[in-house]
Amino acid sequence: MTTQVSDGTQAIEARKLTKRYDGFVAVDGLELAIEPGEVFGFLGPNGSGKTTTILMWLGLTEPTMGEALVWGHNATREPIQVKRIAGYVPESVGFYEDLSARQNLIYTARLNHIPRRQAEEAIHRAMGYVGLGEVADKKVGQFSRGMRQRLAIADIMVKEPRVVFLDEPTLGLDQEGVNRVMELIQRLSQEQGITVVISSHQLHQVQQVCRRVGIMSRGRMVALGTVEELGQALGTQGLMVDIEVEGWDEALLADLRRVDGVEHVDAAERFITVRCQPQTRPSLARAILDRDCLLVQMRSKDLTLEEIYLRYFTGGEDK
Ligand SMILES: Nc1ncnc2c1ncn2[C@@H]1O[C@H](COP(=O)(O)OP(=O)(O)O)[C@@H](O)[C@H]1O
Ligand SMILES: [Mg+2]
Repeated sequence: MTTQVSDGTQAIEARKLTKRYDGFVAVDGLELAIEPGEVFGFLGPNGSGKTTTILMWLGLTEPTMGEALVWGHNATREPIQVKRIAGYVPESVGFYEDLSARQNLIYTARLNHIPRRQAEEAIHRAMGYVGLGEVADKKVGQFSRGMRQRLAIADIMVKEPRVVFLDEPTLGLDQEGVNRVMELIQRLSQEQGITVVISSHQLHQVQQVCRRVGIMSRGRMVALGTVEELGQALGTQGLMVDIEVEGWDEALLADLRRVDGVEHVDAAERFITVRCQPQTRPSLARAILDRDCLLVQMRSKDLTLEEIYLRYFTGGEDK
């Protein structure tokens, strides 16, 4: 009905995509291809260029150079085709607080020129799909942040998009809210075959549902692949261990640095921080006991996006 898909067509593409603001480069020659049905995690610290890129894919801001393509359509030259197939949940979703959830969706459907009867049916289905069927006639003013986020997803489902861009959809949600939104995103991809781009500066919130992630830094993509691939490329399974030790000294730090699988050792006050392979923990404990120091506690933590990002960045500078 809409667009013919030829073999090999990518759902979403960036070709040398660049955006400058008065000489400042917000997006710098981005090259990326996202396959149909893929859930892609578009990651990076604040200010790294994620929103700007999404706006270019949607045809809402013009590239300075290069191309933003959605299902083969150039977002600048064919904005209408792109708007027809792309759904967008912006960073701050706005609804009319005094209208019910259903009325809000009817309003959007009218803006999208969807016939009333068809819209009502689609809205009913979408509200049920996102788990808001029972509160469809409640005013949005009473909705939690998580409910608004799911309502925004229902809102874009009404027009049956092929690709969906969600800009920081987990911002400000509690863990349960994050889980529900992520589960919903996974279903959109698996059950509806929708291609999804999720932007986030928090890797751990989105990584379970993303087939691949790309990490942006200062307008450039500094890493791209599955989370496992990125971890392996760093030569780590992503393990940091914080150890509280009474009475440590330089000799102990030297011992720890010699332990097989240890990559880095740091210490401050009562804490020693070790970056190492996962199976290294027992050897660390032994080294501490061998020096007659008191091991108070030992905690592992995963690398955060910021840490992964920093390590890519530092690695890049060294080479
Ligand atoms: N309209 C604009 N005018 C000038 N600078 C902008 C504009 N929009 C974004 N920027 C700058 O571009 C950079 C990337 O911003 P953005 O795409 O919003 O990053 P992110 O979404 O990753 O946080 C930031 O330094 C931001 O200040
Ligand atoms: Mg942003």
